[in-house]
Amino acid sequence: MKKILIIGSNGQLGSDLSKEFKSKSAIEIATLDHTQIELRDKSSVHKSITELKPDIVINCGAFARVDDCEENPAHAIEVNALGAAFVAQASAEIDAVCVYISTDYVFDGSKNTPYLEDDPAYPLNMYGISKLSGEHMVRSCSPKHYIVRTCGLYGLVQLEGGNGGNFVETIIGLAKEHKPLSVVRDQVLAPTFTKDLSAAIAELIDKGGFGTYHITNSGECSWYQFAKTILDLAGLKTELTPTTSAEYGAKAKRPAYSVLSNKKIEQIGINAPRAWAKALEDYISLRT
Ligand SMILES: NC(=O)c1ccc[n+]([C@@H]2O[C@H](COP(=O)([O-])OP(=O)(O)OC[C@H]3O[C@@H](n4cnc5c(N)ncnc54)[C@H](OP(=O)(O)O)[C@@H]3O)[C@@H](O)[C@H]2O)c1
Repeated sequence: MKKILIIGSNGQLGSDLSKEFKSKSAIEIATLDHTQIELRDKSSVHKSITELKPDIVINCGAFARVDDCEENPAHAIEVNALGAAFVAQASAEIDAVCVYISTDYVFDGSKNTPYLEDDPAYPLNMYGISKLSGEHMVRSCSPKHYIVRTCGLYGLVQLEGGNGGNFVETIIGLAKEHKPLSVVRDQVLAPTFTKDLSAAIAELIDKGGFGTYHITNSGECSWYQFAKTILDLAGLKTELTPTTSAEYGAKAKRPAYSVLSNKKIEQIGINAPRAWAKALEDYISLRT
């Protein structure tokens, strides 16, 4: 029997990972949400992990609001980098495997083909800087680690009272109010359903060697195409206009292209998650 601890268990990924592991035999799950663990507090992290004594710790906790990280860089570093270090140190102390979830925003977007795990990382914003720092902390503190970079997450927890929101829900909510939408077409991503990501992470932990991996749904699109597909699949009509990052003027700079290659997981026999539009269709059918 393996014990898996999921930190950030009421977030989008944390909640789908909990469901994924609950469906498996010979796995015991422990979950901690933000009311039960404070990643910025070394003693809170150390106490939780050393008392629960899991075999595997999956850290899904993060300060993930990209524009807010520009406003509050110290908080971003405390949660995403120092918090990651505290988790990795405590995991190493009890010889547990440490899994850290990272992001496509560690890259600067200057490529136009999917990023490989060993491509140089040059983040453009504080969120990416804090997550890349978190990766370095995990690599330094925990010899038994997986770093999983992913992209553009949406998960069903937002329909079950989750408080973070996601792009799909934002678009659907605004369209229902017949608000005109303006969405960037000069940023390309691979939107990813946390249910699919969770299944792939479970498989990775089962059969992959330690190291850094990219996992997203397959294919790519601009945020504008993503929004258009959401409206089409949800059967909603509202004015949707493509715009540019410069016109939109978000606080945080974002990469123009941040698609991650799934090749490395495929090479170890894990199927890349299905095409992004198929996964989105599934999500939208589950939410109605
Ligand atoms: N969302 C994306 O598009 C995206 C893309 C690429 C990578 N990622 C990465 O994927 C992972 C999961 O993302 P997600 O979308 O599932 O995030 P999420 O829904 O925002 O969940 C993050 C969780 O972390 C908790 N948390 C925040 N600050 C904390 C702290 N100081 N101590 C303990 N817990 C804290 C949050 O709790 P409260 O809400 O109660 O504070 C929340 O439950 C993160 O590492 C993120 O950086 C996300």
